[in-house]
Amino acid sequence: MRSIRLKGISKSRESEKILDKINLTIPSGEFFALLGPSGCGKTTLLRIIAGLETQDEGTIHIGNLDISDLSINKRPVNMVFQNYALFPHLNIFNNVAYSLVIRKVAKDEIEAKVLKILKSFHLEKHIFKYPSQLSGGQQQRVALARAIINEPDVLLLDEPLAALDFKLREKMLLELIDLQDKIKTTFVYITHDQFEALTVADTMAIMNHNGEIEQIGTPKEIYEFPRSSFVAKFVGSTNLFSGTLHHLKTDPIFTTAHLGTFQCSLQGANPWTYEGVEASLSIRPEKIHISKKRLDNFINTLEGIVTQIVYYGRSTQYTVLVNNQFSVHVFEQNALHLEKPQESIDYDDAVFLHWHSSNSILLEV
Ligand SMILES: Nc1ncnc2c1ncn2[C@@H]1O[C@H](COP(=O)(O)OP(=O)(O)OP(=O)(O)O)[C@@H](O)[C@H]1O
Ligand SMILES: [Mg+2]
Repeated sequence: MRSIRLKGISKSRESEKILDKINLTIPSGEFFALLGPSGCGKTTLLRIIAGLETQDEGTIHIGNLDISDLSINKRPVNMVFQNYALFPHLNIFNNVAYSLVIRKVAKDEIEAKVLKILKSFHLEKHIFKYPSQLSGGQQQRVALARAIINEPDVLLLDEPLAALDFKLREKMLLELIDLQDKIKTTFVYITHDQFEALTVADTMAIMNHNGEIEQIGTPKEIYEFPRSSFVAKFVGSTNLFSGTLHHLKTDPIFTTAHLGTFQCSLQGANPWTYEGVEASLSIRPEKIHISKKRLDNFINTLEGIVTQIVYYGRSTQYTVLVNNQFSVHVFEQNALHLEKPQESIDYDDAVFLHWHSSNSILLEV
């Protein structure tokens, strides 16, 4: 198996630490997404794997091959950039054929390979056009075709869809997932868009502002069991409360200074071992039930006043002011048709917010 293994990768620029001892294993054949805020070092890490930049410390292996000091063209890796970087003076056929021509592959073989790949990317009608004569989505497909024609073990994708509009991005994302499924090349996909990462990834890693990996896991693990408030806030939106934890041996209770106590469960990754430890509590807005009536089948309840309602089509977001002090966000699916309205909730209504203890995610402060 040809997994990618990064050990202790550090990088500084002009005395600014960009990457700090990154340890990361990317299993062979995975669609791996690296997600993090702007400027946290994602592109730098990808460029180091590609050999476009050199790490100050650390090693990179692909399978048993130590590529830490190999030159760019000796690495079994290809990269697709945000701005496509197609050759403007070459037509589409020659753009895609480029690396095969350099490697002096036989002409017949080049033609067969390029035509096959252009067909599978639905580009066969555009073979003799130049990049400037194609749409953004088509250019992006050419860039992808050019990157995978050499059948690299690893494809590094640096925000490849960032320049596309929303609809096209959604479509290309699904095409990318299909493509990866077919060719089984390891994809390392960088994005700062949490929606993209959650959609494409088998596994995802979250990087923080200090150039460190905060958490690695499946999209579901990251979303449902974030290990830090940074991850909880960065992937999806959340309501965060601070307080202390008690009764850790039985059903844990989270005590806040101003909002009373909440029941939690100790699932998830954090080990909580002693009474009175300070913690944060994260509750996703869609896990909260909003109602004008107090409901008995929920353990946790807050009361508040609706201060904002935003209609998003498939869902509605309510902002509820609790204790005249704390804004809590709630998402509710608009499951029923308007002719059969759900309980109608308006501005200034007094409401109850309810959630189950299993949806109270405990985080270290
Ligand atoms: N050529 C350069 N010279 C000096 N500093 C640079 C250079 N390129 C990037 N940096 C700095 O390195 C840090 C990491 O940049 P990088 O491009 O890796 O971030 P990123 O996570 O890819 O961000 P984005 O999501 O905005 O693309 C930033 O602080 C940036 O200012
Ligand atoms: Mg970048």
